[in-house]
Amino acid sequence: MTSHDDRFVHYLRAKESVDDRALHRPTLASLEDRLEARAESRSGEPLRVVSVGAGTGAMCRRLLSWGVFDAHDEIKYVLVDRTRGMADNAAAAFAEWARAAGWTAEPTSNGFRIDRHGRSVSLTYVTSDIFEAMAVLPKAIDLVVAHAVLDVLPLRRAVAALLSRLTDDGLFYAPITFDGRTAFRPSHPADDAVLGAYHETMRGDDRAGPDTGTDLLTALPDLGAPVVAAGGSDWVVHPPHDDEARLFLDRILGFVEESVGEAVGEAVGEADAVDRETLDGWLRARHDALAGDELAYVAHNLDVLAELD
Ligand SMILES: C[S@@+](CC[C@H](N)C(=O)[O-])C[C@H]1O[C@@H](n2cnc3c(N)ncnc32)[C@H](O)[C@@H]1O
Repeated sequence: MTSHDDRFVHYLRAKESVDDRALHRPTLASLEDRLEARAESRSGEPLRVVSVGAGTGAMCRRLLSWGVFDAHDEIKYVLVDRTRGMADNAAAAFAEWARAAGWTAEPTSNGFRIDRHGRSVSLTYVTSDIFEAMAVLPKAIDLVVAHAVLDVLPLRRAVAALLSRLTDDGLFYAPITFDGRTAFRPSHPADDAVLGAYHETMRGDDRAGPDTGTDLLTALPDLGAPVVAAGGSDWVVHPPHDDEARLFLDRILGFVEESVGEAVGEAVGEADAVDRETLDGWLRARHDALAGDELAYVAHNLDVLAELD
């Protein structure tokens, strides 16, 4: 992994507690109810889950910790991510978590298996692009989890590929899907220019763009999977900050710097181009506010749950 990837892994770790607070509980409860009904109607069958853009597997650990899979004694969980080296970070995170949570862990040929109180979870990590992974996975997935990833994929193509691997009544869960609003406080005169440009950099032929959450509400039913639950899962990070929150916000500012910095001087969609001086002044003010423990940040996300028709 590059040092850039290492920083990204630290960001993912810091993001876990922000996501914990943000996740839309009614949508999660609806997922749990549907998994329970599934366990009853398919007694004796394992639950097969595929997580795409899985990163270090935070959502899998969270769903297990929060009891969302409790109706199932046997779970086969495949994590797909294209970043090389992410699998090792996931293995380390699972090993640490399993020890602390009282699961016994045992290596298998392509991952490892964890067991606790009669519940067994086989974990397999696949380092691959999602489209390549979907082309080879059997049409036998009960639940797809696409956590904080759809905005960087071509939306309809990605959703169609993922739905094509689901079993009858299969579930599609897309938590923390970015949905068009980023805000910082204290406010700054260049907020509209910089954040408008930031959102414009999210557009492109192979990217779902800044309104992915809302777009999912029509893309899923159009592709045969009506939405059964959805709600806001906004990130809200305000002072006073602990070290993790500071690291998280520093990385968010880094994402703005990298993406808007690349587009400096270019026309970015309908938004005015941002010049380097404006961007640098804005970043300086934001980093000063972060250092002074004054920076607040809000990003609007949606959690969406759909079921194959
Ligand atoms: C914002 S991170 C989210 C990671 C994890 N879901 C989380 O929230 O902790 C997005 C992840 O998607 C992966 N990713 C992006 N495009 C992908 C693709 N086409 N195929 C597979 N993985 C992809 C990236 O490598 C990255 O780890």
